[in-house]
Amino acid sequence: MTDSTVAGASDAPRDATSKITRAVVIGVGHYLPENVVENDAFTKTLDTSDEWIRTRSGIERRHFAAKDEYTSDLATKAAEAALANAGIDAESLDAIIVATSTPDFTFPSVGTMVQARIGALKAYAFDVQAVCAGFVYALANANALIVSGQARRILVIGAETFSRIMDWTDRGTCVLFGDGAGALILEGQPGTGGTEDRGILSTDLNADGRHRELLFVDGGVSTTGTAGYLRMQGNQVFRHAVEKLAQTAEAALTKAGLSASDVDWIVPHQANIRIIQGTARKLDLPMERVIVTVQDHGNTSAASIPLALSVGAAEGKLKQGDLIVTEAIGGGLAWGAIALRW
Ligand code: COA
Repeated sequence: MTDSTVAGASDAPRDATSKITRAVVIGVGHYLPENVVENDAFTKTLDTSDEWIRTRSGIERRHFAAKDEYTSDLATKAAEAALANAGIDAESLDAIIVATSTPDFTFPSVGTMVQARIGALKAYAFDVQAVCAGFVYALANANALIVSGQARRILVIGAETFSRIMDWTDRGTCVLFGDGAGALILEGQPGTGGTEDRGILSTDLNADGRHRELLFVDGGVSTTGTAGYLRMQGNQVFRHAVEKLAQTAEAALTKAGLSASDVDWIVPHQANIRIIQGTARKLDLPMERVIVTVQDHGNTSAASIPLALSVGAAEGKLKQGDLIVTEAIGGGLAWGAIALRW
């Protein structure tokens, strides 16, 4: 469907300058694998404690996918939940974007696997890989496709099985991550161009590949021919995270013509409660305005933001018209933020 068709869908009279298209969230859903692993489970094999994990990261438990459960399975279940929440048919989707760094296979993309499974046969589909910033990157790309008229309805999924790239002997990483998937459905709807519009109001994407050594996986298709294991200099990543997340959130708000005091909810990437608190402090926002799920999910990389959005909506916290800023940073480094009105 073309941009003008979308913009013309409203009955409201509007002048030429008001005919802009906004990518509005019309559905949200998530899926978490059944297997819940509490912090204490790690004390059997590692020199660690529930107390250390809890106080250093805020994590209490995480979900791990079953042996025969893959990223595309998690993604498909989250997609089905989002479609049901939106009350739309998969055939009405124009595109599917999956943010993941842990695809089932080198190819095909998880996006095309989900497309076949849900029967979204009119949709083009692909994956985006920006590690923990993947969902923010995917949303920004979906927004660009919608405002440029290349798609009207897009299913955007974040899905990961990070348990598959954990070194179970490395206590500095394996206690921090979890598996899961979340999904949003975006639809092009007419907006005025003002900050009161529903939908994505601005995006801010960044990368600095010079920091590769801080967070990477030590294997891959073209190098070792294996999936490899996640390696991280946690305290260095921590330092970059608080500074860059506050900066990118502020940049997104400024681009939208808004400021932190306008924000109803921060929905941050869920990596570490101390990073989440530090970023909120820098933005001068109280923790009461932050959606926090890290205690129950751990760091699910690209899945963490859509999971938090879905949980926040299910708990009745996110209400139509609320201004949300969502921000994430991950391997690369890659980071970014999005301001959107729910
Ligand atoms: N249990 C017990 N001790 C542990 C441990 C564990 N699971 N993991 C690490 N330690 C130890 C370290 O070995 C170190 O011991 P040492 O002082 O004897 O060398 C000590 O704890 C402190 O390590 P450090 O890395 O400085 O701790 P920290 O306060 O920075 O917390 C993280 C570690 C990983 C929780 C924290 O740095 C963090 O969350 N970083 C950001 C990671 C992140 O979010 N990455 C993903 C971004 S998308």
